[in-house]
Amino acid sequence: MAKTELHETARELVAEGKGILAADESSGTIKKRFDTIGVESTEENRRAYRQMLFATPGVEEYISGVILFDETIRQKADDGTPFPELLASKGIIPGIKVDAGAKPLALAEGETVTEGLDGLRARLEEYRGLGARFAKWRATYSISDTHPSEYCIWTNAHALARYAALCQEAGIVPIVEPEVLQDGTHTIERSGFVTSRVLFALYTELFDQRVDVAGTLLKPNMVLSGYEAAERAGVDEVAEASLHAYYKHVPADVPGIVFLSGGQSDEDATAHLNAMNARGPHPWQLSFSYGRALQAPALRAWGGKPENVEAGQRAYYHRAKMNGAARTGTYAPEMEQELATA
Ligand code: 13P
Repeated sequence: MAKTELHETARELVAEGKGILAADESSGTIKKRFDTIGVESTEENRRAYRQMLFATPGVEEYISGVILFDETIRQKADDGTPFPELLASKGIIPGIKVDAGAKPLALAEGETVTEGLDGLRARLEEYRGLGARFAKWRATYSISDTHPSEYCIWTNAHALARYAALCQEAGIVPIVEPEVLQDGTHTIERSGFVTSRVLFALYTELFDQRVDVAGTLLKPNMVLSGYEAAERAGVDEVAEASLHAYYKHVPADVPGIVFLSGGQSDEDATAHLNAMNARGPHPWQLSFSYGRALQAPALRAWGGKPENVEAGQRAYYHRAKMNGAARTGTYAPEMEQELATA
């Protein structure tokens, strides 16, 4: 029974034409985003910004779920409706980030391990009571000639699987997010190799720790050339290299792969997803769980001013619609003009 519910929730999150909004920036990260538009990161400003996104008319056509931060899942809209309830009333599934961030990995200079397992069982129970039906845990790995180490890869895989098992026990769908960071000068081949090692370790640990992968979603990086590489791979090469890694390492039982945008431009993130879907059908749904690539234009259009809420909502709706089109491989860059003429 519980198993069926997990499977159904996971499938609903990757329903046709829809994807996930990651709005779970921690207090430190949202401050960085607000700094770019000169807005102070107060609790009220954070609430007003998230309310703008969550209340966007019609966005539920393209958005299946929203990942919240601990503060946000407890906040309310102007009329007193708790955010999880507001989302659920639009048919959008509320989710929650439960990791406590990447911390220095002992005896591994420059590498990190994600913390947050202590007390997680009780926190999941509380979040479930607040309306969360899925969760997220992010591990990060940076690329150099010597990093990530196998020690870093396996330590993070072990923690991701422990988190996933606890989620499934609580009736919450775990999104497992192993993010190979794409900063640096590495080649796309190096990114593909590291992504493959990370996925191999992750699915080994998930299997060993008895996680039912049909009740999970994978949130990986796309395989890219480093952002500072002299020669950067184009859209087709990114699609091929990314699919190559997932075909080798992601079980067909996984219902969906929901990408992070990871610092790509909004339009690159859409074009890459589109190119992968255009090469389908695939064993899994290929969808999005973007933070920056869904929010950046909305944040700029809003600028912290109540009179700009509608402009912010239009910008967010537009990006959601473009990514909705990329879900079926029918996105074309010309469609970006729609916003200008709206
Ligand atoms: P970006 O799409 O901005 O990478 O954020 C997604 C996310 O949730 C990272 O954990």
